[in-house]
Amino acid sequence: MEKELEKLRLSALTKIQHTLDSDSLNDVFLGLLGKSGQFTRLVKKLKDQPTSEKPNLGKLVNKVKNEIELALERQKNIIAGKKLEEWLDVTAPGIKPPQGHLHIVTQAIEEITRIYERIGFTRVRYPEIDWEWYAFESLNMPRSHPARDDFETFFIDGPTSPTLGRMVLTPHTSNGQVREMERLHHKPPIRMINITKCYRPNWDVSHVPMFHQFEGLVVDKGINITHLKGTMDYFAREFFGKDRKTRLRPFHFQFTEPSFEVDINCGICLGKGKLEDETTCRFCKDGWLELGGSGMVHPNVLKAGKIDPNIYTGFAFGWGVERTYMMKSGTKLDDIRLLYSNDIRFLEQF
Ligand code: DAH
Repeated sequence: MEKELEKLRLSALTKIQHTLDSDSLNDVFLGLLGKSGQFTRLVKKLKDQPTSEKPNLGKLVNKVKNEIELALERQKNIIAGKKLEEWLDVTAPGIKPPQGHLHIVTQAIEEITRIYERIGFTRVRYPEIDWEWYAFESLNMPRSHPARDDFETFFIDGPTSPTLGRMVLTPHTSNGQVREMERLHHKPPIRMINITKCYRPNWDVSHVPMFHQFEGLVVDKGINITHLKGTMDYFAREFFGKDRKTRLRPFHFQFTEPSFEVDINCGICLGKGKLEDETTCRFCKDGWLELGGSGMVHPNVLKAGKIDPNIYTGFAFGWGVERTYMMKSGTKLDDIRLLYSNDIRFLEQF
């Protein structure tokens, strides 16, 4: 009986595996385990076996039965799977995975780059870790000068150069000015737009230790303040809208003379400081909003870049990307750190 059981086991398993539809599988089931099925008939012979063999044969019968039942179950699932493919509508629209987009700061950088490229500026990037000389000395800021305190700086543990000083995480993009003069072998014309990350050790609602600036530099013969003003107005119109214009307000920077803060007329009251109902505009100060610094390149900076200030003049500006973008979108961000906290609910809105 043992041999017969093994023979039946093998033939049953092969038969099951080759049955590919559920009606036939049902027939196979009945043919094996039904009232007069092969297996059922074999089991009936158990009572005629010698008593001593009965316990072992009994165990074997159960094992084979389990195996056959399992195989039937598995084949049933396989057939069901095949059917799934048959009714699956391959033309039905799929489930779309969520799609990401560029971070708002990247979007702003792209837009600013395109605007300046249209008037002949070349986009460059300079190192985020640079020598003190490029970040300060070359910009007319000697080590002892108090103005340098405004640019609180991260210093790098590393080699110090006898001529270039220590290494710093660039606290502004102005380090690109003399580097650009060097890249062009001290030969104007220069029309640079340098957009990179900057670092200062501040962390509060309006400061993050890593932020972005865009720095413009134009050097050529006969460059004067009207070129600076025209460029600022062009940017204001292109980036903020056609009703927008700028004004230059006297200020002080070591690397420019004269220096200015650039203001833009408020997008809500358009520079009037008052709304139509004569109430004071809440979005600006007397009609204007502060954008960033600018000025005519200081002769000492041109000299540091080995350009003769008696032949060439230039203008420069350096603004924060985050701040400029926030002013455009009218987004009243009460905490600038949101930009870098990777909260998808915030980022998805832009
Ligand atoms: N580097 C200055 C800052 O980070 C901004 C700046 C002001 C850049 C005037 C300039 C400039 O090029 O002319 O605050």
